[in-house]
Amino acid sequence: MKSFSYLLLTGLISITPFALNAELINLSTPKTSLVLDATKGQPLRILHYGDKLNKQDMDGFRTSTSVHHEAYPAYGIYPQGEAALSVTHSDGNRTTQLEVIDVETEEIDGATVTKVKMKDKFYPFEVNVNYKVRPNYDVIETWVDLTNNEKGNVTLNRFMSGYLPIRYGNVWLSSLYGTWANEAELTEEPLSHGVKMIKNKDGVRNSHTAHGEVMFSLDGKPQENTGRIIGAALCYPGNYKLFVDTDDSDFHHFFAGINEENSEYHLKKGETFTTPELALTYSEEGLSGASRNFHKWGRDNRLHAGNKERKVLLNSWEGVYFDINEPVMAGMMEDIASMGGELFVMDDGWFGDKYPRNVDNSSLGDWVVDKNKLPQGINGLLETAKKNGVSFGIWIEPEMANTVSELYEKHPEYIVKAPNRPVIEGRGGTQVVLDLSNPKVQDIVFEVVDTLMTKYPEIDYIKWDANAPIMEHGSQYLSADNQSHLYIDYHKGLMKTLDRIREAHPDVTIQACASGGGRANWGILPWFDEFWTSDNNDALQRVYMQWGTSYFFPAIAMASHISASPNHQTFRRIPTKFRADVAMSGRLGLEMQPKDMNDEDRAICKQAIEDYKKIRPIVQFGDLYRLQSPFDKKGVASLMYVTPEKEDAVFFWWKTETFMNQQLPRIPMAGLDPEKEYVVTELNRIDNEPLPFEGKKFTGKFLMSNGLEIPLTYKVDYHKNTDFASRVLRLTETK
Ligand code: DGJ
Repeated sequence: MKSFSYLLLTGLISITPFALNAELINLSTPKTSLVLDATKGQPLRILHYGDKLNKQDMDGFRTSTSVHHEAYPAYGIYPQGEAALSVTHSDGNRTTQLEVIDVETEEIDGATVTKVKMKDKFYPFEVNVNYKVRPNYDVIETWVDLTNNEKGNVTLNRFMSGYLPIRYGNVWLSSLYGTWANEAELTEEPLSHGVKMIKNKDGVRNSHTAHGEVMFSLDGKPQENTGRIIGAALCYPGNYKLFVDTDDSDFHHFFAGINEENSEYHLKKGETFTTPELALTYSEEGLSGASRNFHKWGRDNRLHAGNKERKVLLNSWEGVYFDINEPVMAGMMEDIASMGGELFVMDDGWFGDKYPRNVDNSSLGDWVVDKNKLPQGINGLLETAKKNGVSFGIWIEPEMANTVSELYEKHPEYIVKAPNRPVIEGRGGTQVVLDLSNPKVQDIVFEVVDTLMTKYPEIDYIKWDANAPIMEHGSQYLSADNQSHLYIDYHKGLMKTLDRIREAHPDVTIQACASGGGRANWGILPWFDEFWTSDNNDALQRVYMQWGTSYFFPAIAMASHISASPNHQTFRRIPTKFRADVAMSGRLGLEMQPKDMNDEDRAICKQAIEDYKKIRPIVQFGDLYRLQSPFDKKGVASLMYVTPEKEDAVFFWWKTETFMNQQLPRIPMAGLDPEKEYVVTELNRIDNEPLPFEGKKFTGKFLMSNGLEIPLTYKVDYHKNTDFASRVLRLTETK
């Protein structure tokens, strides 16, 4: 953005009191307000996003001097600053000047949508900025509709979902970065001058390397349970760009939307382009408060079946990889059933006729059972599942093909490919991406799921994987002029297909997996019940990855599995109790060959499943209070979940490193009712004797000001001692 004084001089920012006839809009949630000035004939301006304002506060805006920025700045007039929108009009003019025409409100499913209608002062180009407010959620969603009523095509060069000016100060940005098997690492940094940009250009998966969600701490280095936080989550599964431009004005300028690089979009006369939503939250209860806002809003409004308990499952991947066959599957079903699990998921390796899927270099696209491996087909497996009293789930990767597949042999034109270039092949040396901008491909992807679910309606769960990025920019379906639409139309096609799938099959649980945690975003979750957090199941590293993930996503959506030791990714040896204690803080599952476990480990898993079922409603639907971050490197990490009524809670404590005579902080709890009394019960206990506070009563006040002294080691037989220690405590109100 341009310098503040420059903008003042040029009149782009006003610090004069508002005209008394200014049309101020206060969009209020239970604890927050977004205040806009929608005076007709002027651009829409934003005055405030933060704590809730009352009528008197609103009157203050009319008489006090306030800085107010355009709420959706458009490029062209004084073009030196960053803009949310940049358009080339049908006659080549690259400037846009917006003015408010009207404001409409509409009630949609209990939410109020305020639509501020703007148009260019000269061109019949319309920009509606929308805000959705739901009465019980401190989250406001904003998005924009761009309509071309000009004589010819208009090109959208930039088309962000939203913009927010944040007052300059000791503002810190918390964001997630990472890579495959190391997703959701947390970065906290003070914002200084210049541009901080977070973006994705994968084309398919968008949360391995960075995330389209951020938090701003307005009070310096962010704290978990105190301080003012603004959170922002772009609800989009494709390429995104979030950036903060801190210029010489008094503001950090935050923009978020689809990544426009190589994606300029042509709008024909009469066409409308709708941006994805940007969800904003504000909390005065620190980062955890902002997370709770996102979790509650997301579970109730965005996550598919967000209020339905998730089952405890065994996934076959790390247990047998591609070595699937009937007896092994049957054994796994029997084992998970005997441990109290509720669902078995057969992962990759079950399909392919002409080209059987024995490794990762063939068969994607050929979704027929490999009869050599599974002579009785899916029906045989469903019967075995039924016999064992567990549900059955299956892995697919419907957006992809291999060049070694019957699908590719028949339809090479269905893949993403640039003209005059060789086919670029990914995983296994033969994987390619299907071009979902093509309606015929959309039909194929729909049919993969529809055929499975129609033939085998008992299938309870689908793991939907996606293991390749777009590797060459080219669509064999889109016209030469519209090649720049590929990234966007791929996701439009995906979402359209998912709509059809969900309409036909609303009840099947679907996991969004994308080479691990490549699809943890609020843009995909309306169709998915959960996401695979990472291909790395190492419990110690999971403490970190799940911590970061929990900033924006609730535990119910975060699949978290107990896997084998030594771990298949890090080769670290971690005792079963610690692995279980970490997995239980998300959506618990197992991912190993249970036959490889000894009786003791099997008993620990069985106990963990039994205990998890007791705390499942608290973990999956409770309020998260993060207490001690692993990223602070204090040797311990801890968090807890509390029911909304504060009568039941579960406290997790994991030692993250071990040194002799180490001093670890005691962890004060949070989120309890200070007046209530809670009795403490340890879950997953392995010690020979109970903890000193087992069965004892404490007030919420005591637990929140002192916490409990957690022993650093277990009291177990000598040979069971380990450098890992963890505890799970349940706190139940006593009346
Ligand atoms: C990648 C996933 O992240 C894994 O969990 C597994 O399903 C493999 N794909 C199967 O190929």
